[in-house]
Amino acid sequence: MLDEFNTWLGATPLSLLIQKVLWIIPTVQTVHILAISAVLASMAMFDLRLLGLVGTRHSIVSLSRRFMPWLWGSLIVLAVSGSILIIGEPKRALGNSVFLAKMCLLAAAILLTLGFQIILKRDLAGGNTDLASPHFAAAKIVGLLSLVLWVGIAVAGRLIAYTG
Ligand code: HEM
Repeated sequence: MLDEFNTWLGATPLSLLIQKVLWIIPTVQTVHILAISAVLASMAMFDLRLLGLVGTRHSIVSLSRRFMPWLWGSLIVLAVSGSILIIGEPKRALGNSVFLAKMCLLAAAILLTLGFQIILKRDLAGGNTDLASPHFAAAKIVGLLSLVLWVGIAVAGRLIAYTG
């Protein structure tokens, strides 16, 4: 079933165009890597702040306002560029269990980030800020888990090339 889908997708005019025009894949890969840098840099700064290791002069809320737009914007670029890579060579990613693992880790990282943002907003609405909030005892756990997830996604992304 998946094999049939991959064969169909790989024979569509869009896939054939991506396969034929030599500069498309390297260009899209470059865009993917630039967006990865933005995600990893933003989340490293935010998560290390949650862990209390950097930027402690700034509130968690202000760093969230600064870095979250970079995360969501870059994720859109990653989804579009990643989809172009898949359409150009469907079997390489869709037939690969490491790619599936990468998508599961990505879903977990997005849910964790969204969940934390919702808690942050509720605390602010309730008049709590940063460490005055009852939830910030958990901030370090969220920061550590988030870091592990984003690095894991990057490692899984790189490993797709070496696994079948
Ligand atoms: C919906 C989102 C995403 C999709 C559909 C996607 C898809 C892909 C695909 C198809 C590849 C090519 C793999 C190969 O053929 O070797 C790739 C590479 C990669 N991806 Fe993603 N990706 C997404 C998000 C991310 C995120 C969030 C990260 C990390 C924070 C990431 C990190 C990587 C890395 C490190 C590579 C290897 C790049 C290289 O060596 O050229 N990806 N991705």
